[in-house]
Amino acid sequence: MDLLVVGSGLFGLTIAERAATQLGLKVTIIDRRDHLGGNAYSQVEPETGIEYHRYGAHLFHTSNEVVWDYVNQFTSFTDYVHRVYTTHRGEVFPMPVNLGTINQFFRSAYGPDQARALIAEQAAELGGKEPTNFVEKGISLIGRPLYEAFFMNYTAKQWQTDPAELGPEIISRLPVRFTYDNRYFSDKYEGLPTDGYGPWLERMADHPNIEVVLGTDFFDESQPLHKAATVGQVPVIFTGPIDRYFADQLGALSWRTLDFELEVAATPDFQGTPVMNYSDLDVPYTRIHEFRHFHPERAYTSPKTVIMKEYSRFAGPGDEPYYPVNTAQDREKLLGYRDLTEAEPQVLFGGRLGTYQYLDMHMAIASALSRFDSVVRPWFGAAN
Ligand code: FAD
Ligand code: NA
Repeated sequence: MDLLVVGSGLFGLTIAERAATQLGLKVTIIDRRDHLGGNAYSQVEPETGIEYHRYGAHLFHTSNEVVWDYVNQFTSFTDYVHRVYTTHRGEVFPMPVNLGTINQFFRSAYGPDQARALIAEQAAELGGKEPTNFVEKGISLIGRPLYEAFFMNYTAKQWQTDPAELGPEIISRLPVRFTYDNRYFSDKYEGLPTDGYGPWLERMADHPNIEVVLGTDFFDESQPLHKAATVGQVPVIFTGPIDRYFADQLGALSWRTLDFELEVAATPDFQGTPVMNYSDLDVPYTRIHEFRHFHPERAYTSPKTVIMKEYSRFAGPGDEPYYPVNTAQDREKLLGYRDLTEAEPQVLFGGRLGTYQYLDMHMAIASALSRFDSVVRPWFGAAN
């Protein structure tokens, strides 16, 4: 083995693939889960044959040409375009908040200028007072009516916290569009892998120089490829949690986690759209995904459908870390952990967990490609 990659998410897979194909290195990837691919992984629900995203809906989008060319070596993409709706008080509205949402909500027929003027007037409610919490910040951005309908309770459910207790710094803007455009992403390229995320991710590791070892935790000393047995002996790409690498010695970083409830529903079409948000407190989940709608081009024939309810909360010690909370204390701890990484011999900390940073898939890939050139190539004396 020339290189050990801890974590088989898109960051680890990209480094492993480049190391094997560009430098001819023998690479071992370990992952503590029973599958590769990290959070982007998908699999087929056996009863219906419908592909579902095991860790929440994953929509691929990028404007980065290098990333787009790179991923197209492993999969083609459908022409899927993401759109989201939200249910509020028994009525369905298009998201993100746009002119259609505003006119439906206020039972009006405003043009862009009138809608802009209305929102500005409602946002002036605080009269120039500096917002002291999330609620006041939200009102100052888009006015009380839209804030309360679409953001306040949704945020309370995401954080399991009263928004009046959340700091104003959690939001710097709230998305509002003064057109009827409800396309969720605005990147140049968007789509879903034609034959699924699972096959895409497996093809990235499908190389004679790459060995994938599943069910192996880097911190489990009963495993041959654990931390103490490898660091200093072989170069390591570490994409697990940075605080965990240092045994939480500066304190644990805080994360939000999600709970997913998968159901096979006895109808061919449950909600008529891929993602429905629920912005009110009387519904405990934040949204429902219905996976057959991600692939209208596929001939799914099942009379049943696969749906997934998503719940959000602060992560406890045993939970999967999904979104960095990123408080001021977290940022301070992170700087301390970054100092500690300086002393680690030939260990690259990368990806979402290794850098304590939310990364979309295209960002994780872009970061891996660039750090492959700036860090991994020089380790092996290879020119850029
Ligand atoms: P991960 O995919 O998290 O991979 C890290 C891997 O390391 C995991 O497989 C884990 O099991 C393994 N690992 C951790 N600790 C250890 C250990 N001690 N020993 C061995 N293995 C270990 N991106 C988009 O572009 N579009 C989306 O729509 C989108 N939706 C998302 C929805 C959710 C709920 C989440 C959480 C993320 C979403 N993302 C989305 C982001 C996307 O999942 C990430 O960009 C991508 O997963 C980053 O890859 P990564 O390799 O950094 O991390
Ligand atoms: Na998503």
